[in-house]
Amino acid sequence: MFELKDVALLYETKKQALAALKSTTLSIAEGEEVGIYGPSGSGKSSLLFIMSTLKEPSRGEIKYGGVELSALTASAKAELRRKKFGFVFQEHFLVNHLTVKENILLPLKNRREAKKRLEEVLAFLGLTELQKRFPFELSVGQSQRVAVARAMINNPKVIFADEPTASLDEENGQKVVKLLRSYCKKHGATLIMVCHSPKFLEGFKRRLKVESGQVSEVTQGQIPPD
Ligand SMILES: Nc1ncnc2c1ncn2[C@@H]1O[C@H](COP(=O)(O)OP(=O)(O)OP(=O)(O)O)[C@@H](O)[C@H]1O
Ligand SMILES: [Mg+2]
Repeated sequence: MFELKDVALLYETKKQALAALKSTTLSIAEGEEVGIYGPSGSGKSSLLFIMSTLKEPSRGEIKYGGVELSALTASAKAELRRKKFGFVFQEHFLVNHLTVKENILLPLKNRREAKKRLEEVLAFLGLTELQKRFPFELSVGQSQRVAVARAMINNPKVIFADEPTASLDEENGQKVVKLLRSYCKKHGATLIMVCHSPKFLEGFKRRLKVESGQVSEVTQGQIPPD
């Protein structure tokens, strides 16, 4: 589904060029569950940004479903994101003056069709009772579940989750990870999830470690304790 060939991301300032991501070649199959971890500043978000078309790589080629992403226009990229991708970010970015329900429906163009889907998603995430509340009336864990619901509302083929557990305690973090995994399993969707700590990646068949912009595959049993 994803094919990355010799992809790199450089940030160039007047003084120097920083390789946020060094030459990376990898592929990810449809329905695969990929956990990414590594120290702060190592390039994890950069990897997610270039795969999800939010950033253009400085070098190399990225294909999604056989289509070369850099060949797409900005609006084709936006359409791809809207139709096929779901995003959960480290900070949940809920809109404070919109209710839970309205926040979840934000990525959709045609809201009328969404009624049934909304009910499903609310129930799946245990948010049915909270749908009329505003974000400032929610706990941090509940807010993050709303962010996850928003990522699922368009029935995405791929969910990109960038440290969705960051602001949560271990129990709520594990809950969010479990919900993301079970959504993807149920729908055959691909999960690409970044976590600062490998403890949230237990049970992931595929794990990638990022260190100083270098991505490497981790084999089972190789993850050190936190
Ligand atoms: N807009 C930018 N301009 C210049 N350098 C940047 C920019 N964005 C990120 N970087 C640098 O690129 C490197 C990789 O950043 P990235 O955000 O991918 O790291 P990360 O692994 O996601 O870190 P964290 O765990 O803290 O989120 C870092 O050294 C960072 O300082
Ligand atoms: Mg990051």
